[in-house]
Amino acid sequence: MQARAVAATSTALLGAVALLLPSSPVHAAEDGTPRPEIVAHRGASAYAPENTLAAVDKAAALGAEWVENDVQRTRDGELVVLHDDSLQRTTDVEEVFPDRAPWKVKDFTAAEIARLDAGSWFDPAYAGARVPTLEQFLHRVEHYDQKLLLELKNPQLYPGIEAETLKTLSNEGWLDRSHVRDRLIVQSFSADSVRTVHDLKPAVKTGFLGTPPVADLPSYTAFADQINPSHGSLSASYVAAVQGLRGPHGKRMEVFTWTVNDAATARRVAGFRVDGIITNTPDVVRDAVGG
Ligand code: G3P
Ligand code: CA
Repeated sequence: MQARAVAATSTALLGAVALLLPSSPVHAAEDGTPRPEIVAHRGASAYAPENTLAAVDKAAALGAEWVENDVQRTRDGELVVLHDDSLQRTTDVEEVFPDRAPWKVKDFTAAEIARLDAGSWFDPAYAGARVPTLEQFLHRVEHYDQKLLLELKNPQLYPGIEAETLKTLSNEGWLDRSHVRDRLIVQSFSADSVRTVHDLKPAVKTGFLGTPPVADLPSYTAFADQINPSHGSLSASYVAAVQGLRGPHGKRMEVFTWTVNDAATARRVAGFRVDGIITNTPDVVRDAVGG
């Protein structure tokens, strides 16, 4: 009787723990082959200006379940979504602020950045698109019930950005149980930054961007749930090596690879059994590999 009670308690506890842990991709084709998650890179950035709300809209219109973005910080401490450390390539900053070269994100206030056109460089049809704040971006992704692969970009330029990003995620409801379990991954090329996120909020699923040597992979298991390499550096044996390890939540580590924009490459990496494919063209990848 006592043993049965202990077993029942243990089962209940395990169930409760499983509810709190980040989940693994579950899609599978009818023949049982796992289907990778498809992530719209910087939004559907082949079709709309990258990292704008329009790119999230386009990703949703194409049925993309996941969106990736890049988070940086303004001079006055606002978190904004932009890839480069400079505003030059993807906005009209040179025209609006001609004397402010090299137009670094960290040297502009949020109000100044809000004046910039982040759409015309891509297509005149997108004139007036803005650089979104992280808060605005989260609202839009939430609006579509999408999932977010959030990259801390250039974190070495922004001391403390990990805690600030987690604070914004928390304020916007993105650290509740369902988001943490199914809808959020925080990744970075900086192992230090990924480790900091894990230390600050151990429940959050994390990814390291890069292709560490296989011999070094065990050192990532303490703080990274994923190893996310460029597709050019990928092989079936590398994917298997990562997936053969267990991450900080006791689950097998995953591989999301980038940036795959054509059907042949999508089929190639899917054949390696990656867990996710990060792409500017989510429609092309979906048509190639399903999902
Ligand atoms: O999500 C992976 C990918 O975004 C990493 O490269 O330069 O596009 O941020 P990058
Ligand atoms: Ca990125």
